[in-house]
Amino acid sequence: MKISATTGALKGRPDAIAVCLFEDELKSPKLTGLDRRTVNAFQKLVAASKFAGKSSETIIHYSDGAQAPLLILQGLGARKEFSWRRLRLAAGSVIRAAKANSAKHLALFSTASFGDDLDANMTARALTDGLILGHWSFEHYKAKPDKSAVSDVTLYFSTAQRQKAASSAIPAAQVKAEAHNLARDYGTHPANVVTTDYLKAEARKLAKFGLLVTILEKAQLEKLGMNLLLAVGKASEMPPRVIIMDYHPRGATKTVAFVGKGLVFDSGGLNIKVAMMEEMKSDMCGAAAVLAAMHAIVKLKPKQRILGVIGTCENAISDEAFRPSDIYRAYNGKTVEIGNTDAEGRLVLADAMAYVVDKYKPSLLVDIATLTGAAKIALGNHADAVFANSDRVSQQVLGASERAFERMWQMPIYDEYLDEMRSAVADLNNAASDRWGGAGRAAAFLREFVGTTPWAHIDIAPTSFPAAVNSLNPRKTANGSATKTLIELAMSA
Ligand code: BES
Ligand code: MN
Ligand code: ZN
Repeated sequence: MKISATTGALKGRPDAIAVCLFEDELKSPKLTGLDRRTVNAFQKLVAASKFAGKSSETIIHYSDGAQAPLLILQGLGARKEFSWRRLRLAAGSVIRAAKANSAKHLALFSTASFGDDLDANMTARALTDGLILGHWSFEHYKAKPDKSAVSDVTLYFSTAQRQKAASSAIPAAQVKAEAHNLARDYGTHPANVVTTDYLKAEARKLAKFGLLVTILEKAQLEKLGMNLLLAVGKASEMPPRVIIMDYHPRGATKTVAFVGKGLVFDSGGLNIKVAMMEEMKSDMCGAAAVLAAMHAIVKLKPKQRILGVIGTCENAISDEAFRPSDIYRAYNGKTVEIGNTDAEGRLVLADAMAYVVDKYKPSLLVDIATLTGAAKIALGNHADAVFANSDRVSQQVLGASERAFERMWQMPIYDEYLDEMRSAVADLNNAASDRWGGAGRAAAFLREFVGTTPWAHIDIAPTSFPAAVNSLNPRKTANGSATKTLIELAMSA
């Protein structure tokens, strides 16, 4: 989909014209840029329908005399309640209506309603994000895939100056949103497709962009002593791996490392899951975010060195499976008793992070993982949980998440959480004796493997799968959570 910004009167012959209106301006909408008959058609539509301009309202109308056969009227809600999130959701509704009605060329009139008080650069970024996310659907396994696609969208702005600001914002916003969609693909494909081989192949594809891709195979993991990761992957015929994507531009003075949990499937292991096991095809969404972010990073070319690291394996069951009560020595020398084989993500991350700290000494380490049901219970489907070993780092992540239009919420790591992760017979236990505070306890466990490295942990279990259903997210698909936050962190490092 090609998105561009323009100014002045409507150009060309679009299949659809969309107008976004606040509920406060229905009586006298400023529809500059459209001819009289088109404006009349929109005004008649407002008068004749029950359209009230609520942010959830989208109506379509086929018109003879207007400048396009299809008119789309989209509400933005009350002006005083405006948010970029609302604008993105509105853009998602508009693109869905256009796509569902086979429109290929769409003209979107935003400025007539937004006036000049909203920053044009941000407006363009939010619209681009909403359009590209709303346009995504997952058709890979359908006998008759829905092939309808909007090929271009023109955003109309009120002045040449605003158009210029918008035009300069669109390309990067587009790269970021497309990376977001890529992560949704990865997370929505099932585990018989997205295997540890698949993740390796996807990482290798990035080598042609000048990124150094290193794969630590099982034998190397054994030599290095990544016994926690190896334990989790023991029962599966899929080989466990650590995948390292190294973007290292000349002149870089800092290294930012992203470490993603890549459990291609999490059955729970011998502590087998009793509910919603099928959702665990998405237990590699942390890895998906890292991979997809690296796709954007090679295009956007940040100044600093960025490492995208994935710890990947399958938590399966066989006679070779690791057991509750087993004890393993981690890469950093700490011993861990297995209290619960379903608390596997922290084991994979612990070894991968300790290795990254030791080998690359990053100035910032951020791990991304579908780590705990407890985080999802705390925040629902609507925000991800951020933990860090300093306030500065949590603020850095929260700031990036805001620029990325992704909701995140800061959570504490109390020392008591760590006390609750002690074992009677080893240094640590991977699970506590009860469920309370499970997300913070998992974070306290992870903190034991990063030393003094500035570190944040983003638990994306809340929003990863299934995504909350709205105009940007189809049903039963992965959300692509945190992909854009990682990109923003890389760009501002
Ligand atoms: N992958 C799950 C966490 C999860 C649950 C993600 C639901 C998304 C939705 C993780 O490996 C897990 O099973 N965690 C356990 C930990 C417990 C055994 C200490 C959990 O959260 O119940
Ligand atoms: Mn698990
Ligand atoms: Zn898991």
